[in-house]
Amino acid sequence: MKPSALDQKGFVLWLTGLSGSGKTTIAEILEGELRNRGLKVERLDGDIVRQGLTQDLGFSKEDRDKNIERVTFVAKLLSRNGVGCICSFISPYQKTRDKVRSETTNFVEIYVDALLDTVIERDVKGLYKKAIAGEIENFTGISDPYEIPLDPDIHIRTDDQTPRESAIIILEHLEDRALIPYPNLY
Ligand code: ADX
Repeated sequence: MKPSALDQKGFVLWLTGLSGSGKTTIAEILEGELRNRGLKVERLDGDIVRQGLTQDLGFSKEDRDKNIERVTFVAKLLSRNGVGCICSFISPYQKTRDKVRSETTNFVEIYVDALLDTVIERDVKGLYKKAIAGEIENFTGISDPYEIPLDPDIHIRTDDQTPRESAIIILEHLEDRALIPYPNLY
């Protein structure tokens, strides 16, 4: 039987971690794989959302919380209507992430863990270099806090795993929780 969006439940995959830890790369793979399986999915990403919905906000604690609050509003509507929502935001505060969990349907907290040394070395966007030089204020991991998830549903280690391996772990979690069908049942 061909899969259908009717076989899925609404959920929120919440990828949290330092800038450059691999959140967006994993989210893109997840989006592609879920779409290939015929499931309904929407992806919300910090860098994109901040160009539109939250372009008025900066990186103080207050603004970061507002950023996540608006995203939560969208994720809440999508997840309660049966859509799988993939959200990738640094979201450095545990209390804020807990609030997203309490307000959305089938929330999955995914800690995308990479050593600070690794993300500084990767420096995909060249922002760590600037932050270390003092050219960017309140930069997470350098001059602003990141609260490590206390009890994440999934702990991904991008120092040791490829993005595809990480995505497979997340998909299996969704299957095991019956939020999406097992592919071999199609
Ligand atoms: S969050 O803290 O509010 O969740 P969000 O995920 O939306 O952050 O945006 C993070 C992205 O903004 C980073 O990947 C980086 O490209 C960019 N950025 C610009 N300034 C900062 C900063 N001071 N701290 C962290 N990220 C920053």
